[in-house]
Amino acid sequence: MEYINNELHFGPEKKNLSSLVANYVRPIYVYDLSFIKSRFKQMAEALAGVRLYFAVKANPNPQVLQCLKSLGAGADVVSLGEIKRALESGFAPEDIVYSGVGKTKHEITEALKLGVLQINVESLQELQRIGEIAEKMGKKAHVALRLNPDVSIQTHPYIATGLRDNKFGMELSMIPDLSACLKKYAQSLELVGVSLHLGSQMMEFSGYQEALVKLKESYQSLKKDFPTLRRFDFGGGLGVVYEKQDLALESRLLAEYAGITKGILSDLNCELQSEPGRWLVAHAGVLLTQVQYVKKTSAKTFVIVDSGMNHLIRPSLYEAEHQILPLVKSGKMTTCDVVGPICESSDFFVKDYSLDQVQEGDFLAVTDSGAYGYSMASTYNLQELPLEICI
Ligand code: LLP
Repeated sequence: MEYINNELHFGPEKKNLSSLVANYVRPIYVYDLSFIKSRFKQMAEALAGVRLYFAVKANPNPQVLQCLKSLGAGADVVSLGEIKRALESGFAPEDIVYSGVGKTKHEITEALKLGVLQINVESLQELQRIGEIAEKMGKKAHVALRLNPDVSIQTHPYIATGLRDNKFGMELSMIPDLSACLKKYAQSLELVGVSLHLGSQMMEFSGYQEALVKLKESYQSLKKDFPTLRRFDFGGGLGVVYEKQDLALESRLLAEYAGITKGILSDLNCELQSEPGRWLVAHAGVLLTQVQYVKKTSAKTFVIVDSGMNHLIRPSLYEAEHQILPLVKSGKMTTCDVVGPICESSDFFVKDYSLDQVQEGDFLAVTDSGAYGYSMASTYNLQELPLEICI
């Protein structure tokens, strides 16, 4: 993001965002594919030798997916809907890792019919279900056990997943029962991997390191019983800086994360997999919205725009901070809340925020919204979904 002659320009190609609102009808997510490419290349270099499966939930836009597929990514999916989107966007079944705690019988059957690369299993009951379905179909399901190491990371509690009071993964004490189930269904289940995902927006890695060490031991002991075990999926979760863009800090964190991962896992001599979402796409997206009213009360100035928690729920749900920038700078600052049209007081982007003075008809950019933006959007209040364009 950069102002050139007071106009906001976006991405490595320095696109003037004002040029995209000439025929504005409703809020628009803009994704810069060249930015996604450079992020993917940077991560692929840092994690050389690791296959990256993009977490589709972060941004299922077909052009974004096609772009990542063309760079060599696989897809990490959590529903039949995401499987279909990945296939439509050019991924092959063998590019797909299927995670998620609630897979239905129908979803498992379809995934097995298609022949996805790997199913990451989240409970003993699910393992049993997959074993039974695959047996009936005369198939062999390739499964990885998502283990929950009971380790905490510093993040918002809603996006932490690696503690024993989270619904995700299976406690290490379950391994004997899981092994028994794998043996019972030896004809229809093949153990191919161990998987882990501790949570999202991770900026510090002591918990991650502890978890890798624990799971490495589990991998080694399972390998003795199951020689087919050959993959270690260390999940996603690497965080980005939202408050103020700091790509240098993110590069240092990436290097640290990659160093820890390779340092602990490389002597397993197995296939390494990762499921990054946010890190690849967050900065590559911006949400453009138009000011409808500037409303002054005795307490506050509200800048009311035509997008809100219905299009980007992160500020309301996780108190996430996205910078808001005017497409054209006025040069005079004011303090305001930028809020949406939705009938909820939690419908805000920022509060008590220092923003250039704006007026009805002006446009604002909600930055760093390429991850978990459109994918979490709803039609609440029967507002239309935003548009999406790729540049
Ligand atoms: N793998 C699994 C199994 C996951 O559950 C997730 C994210 C990822 C990979 C990708 O994580 P990432 O690299 O994007 O952190 N809506 C929240 C984030 C929810 C993350 C859910 N799982 C947000 O807007 O912050």
